[in-house]
Amino acid sequence: MDALRVEALAGDDEAAVAEVAARMRATLVEVLGEARGGAMYTREWLEGRVRQHLRPDAAVFLALAGDARLGHTIVREEVDEAGARFGLFATTYVDPASRRLGVARALLDRGEAWMRGRGLVASATYTDRDNEKLIRLFESRGYALEPAENDMVILRCAL
Ligand SMILES: CC(C)(COP(=O)(O)OP(=O)(O)OC[C@H]1O[C@@H](n2cnc3c(N)ncnc32)[C@H](O)[C@@H]1OP(=O)(O)O)[C@@H](O)C(=O)NCCC(=O)NCCS
Repeated sequence: MDALRVEALAGDDEAAVAEVAARMRATLVEVLGEARGGAMYTREWLEGRVRQHLRPDAAVFLALAGDARLGHTIVREEVDEAGARFGLFATTYVDPASRRLGVARALLDRGEAWMRGRGLVASATYTDRDNEKLIRLFESRGYALEPAENDMVILRCAL
């Protein structure tokens, strides 16, 4: 494999926007199943959602090896119920052929560095309570698991 690198998605990279959107759908299908996950959003909506994160308080990071896009993570700044700012990993996906090679770890390193750079002192992500792969990934980095609404869990960590 070419050397792994992580880069921020540039707003004019239409092919990358389309691929990240397609992988957001692939994530929903993988986690929720084809019937629920595949029908949830249109391609246009998902591409719009990617573009909404190309702003100062959000970012889309791509994991690249040569010309191949291996995965992505989307981060943004949020405010909790108590009014405290925190960094949210909105979605993280690695192409199945490139899994268990540390690609997600590299993406999360970059996302957490982005959060620290904005002065954030806490990070979190939500997922389905049955999403073992993502739960193990975040737990391996010291995130603590708590139940959340609608069969979801939240994983939180101080930065
Ligand atoms: C979760 C996901 C992003 C992990 O990507 P990855 O590049 O394979 O993860 P890494 O290789 O960086 O793994 C880092 C660590 O996370 C944990 N981990 C990752 N995948 C795991 C799995 N399938 N089973 C158990 N632990 C796992 C391990 O601790 C691993 O370290 P190790 O390989 O040295 O044991 C990937 O499986 C994926 O894209 N899943 C589908 C998308 C998804 O569910 N996204 C979240 C939606 S909210």
